[in-house]
Amino acid sequence: MKEYTVKGKPVRVYVCDSEDEIASQAADVVMYAIRRKPHLALGLATGSTPVPLYRKLAEKNRAGEISFAKVRTYNLDEYFPIDPASPLSFRGFMRDNLFSKIDLPEEAIHIPRGDAPDADAEAARYEAELDALGGVDIQILGIGSDGHIGFNEPADRFIYPTHATALTEQTRRDNARFFNALDEVPTHAITMGIGAIMRAKKCIFIATGKNKAPAVKSALLDDPSPACQASVLQFHPDTVFLLDRDAASLLP
Ligand code: GLP
Repeated sequence: MKEYTVKGKPVRVYVCDSEDEIASQAADVVMYAIRRKPHLALGLATGSTPVPLYRKLAEKNRAGEISFAKVRTYNLDEYFPIDPASPLSFRGFMRDNLFSKIDLPEEAIHIPRGDAPDADAEAARYEAELDALGGVDIQILGIGSDGHIGFNEPADRFIYPTHATALTEQTRRDNARFFNALDEVPTHAITMGIGAIMRAKKCIFIATGKNKAPAVKSALLDDPSPACQASVLQFHPDTVFLLDRDAASLLP
C-alpha cells in the first residue's frame, strides 16, 4: 500500500499486479461488509473495470461463501432514454454481469429508469430513494478517461443531487465499444450526483489501464476541481484506491 499525503490528508492507494488481484481485494471488502451487515446497501458501477469483481462475487455466491439475499443495490447511473430490457442499458449490463448470477432479489435492485417519461422527474425520484437511505454502505466506483465518476462529467462545479446530464464526446467515444456505432451511443444519462457518492460510508475506487493514468493522477494528486470530478474523493473520509500498474503509472 502507498499512502500519499495531499494537503495534509491521507490518500490510500493499493497498486495491484493484476485485474484479478484488484477483484479479489475489492470482493474481500464487500464480502466482509455483507457478513457483518447482511442487509448492506451496495452502490454499483458499470463499465469494463468492475467486471472481474462481479465475476468474483458471483463465483463466491455460487460456492455458498456469500449471500446477497438481503442486500440492496443502488447503481450509479443509467443512459437516458434507453429500454431497460436492452442489454446495452446499464440495467441490462448489470443483469448480464451480476444480477442474473447471484441470489439478489429483483426488488432489491435500484437503478434510474431509462424509460421514464421525464428524465428530471426520474432523477428526482432516484434522489429521494437515495435520501431515504441516507447513503450507501459501500460504493464501487470506476473513473472515466475524462475523470468522471458515475456520469458526473467535467464541469465548472460539482452537482450534488442526482441529475440528468449530457455525455461528453469523449465519454460517448469511450463507450462506443459496447454499441455498433458511435451514433448509437446515447447522448444523455441520469447519474447519482456527487452528494450521494460522498454520502457513501466507504468507496472502493478501481481503475485499470494506461488510458486512465492521467485521470487517476489528476483525481488523486491535483487540487480538487470539478474539471476532474473524481478529485472530490480527496475529501471523502474512507476511499480506497485500487489501481493496476498502468493506471498508477503517472503517480510518483
Ligand atoms: C461509465 C460509467 C462509469 C465508469 C466509466 C468507466 O460509462 N458511467 O461509472 O466508471 O464509464 O468505464 P470503464 O470501466 O469501461 O472504463
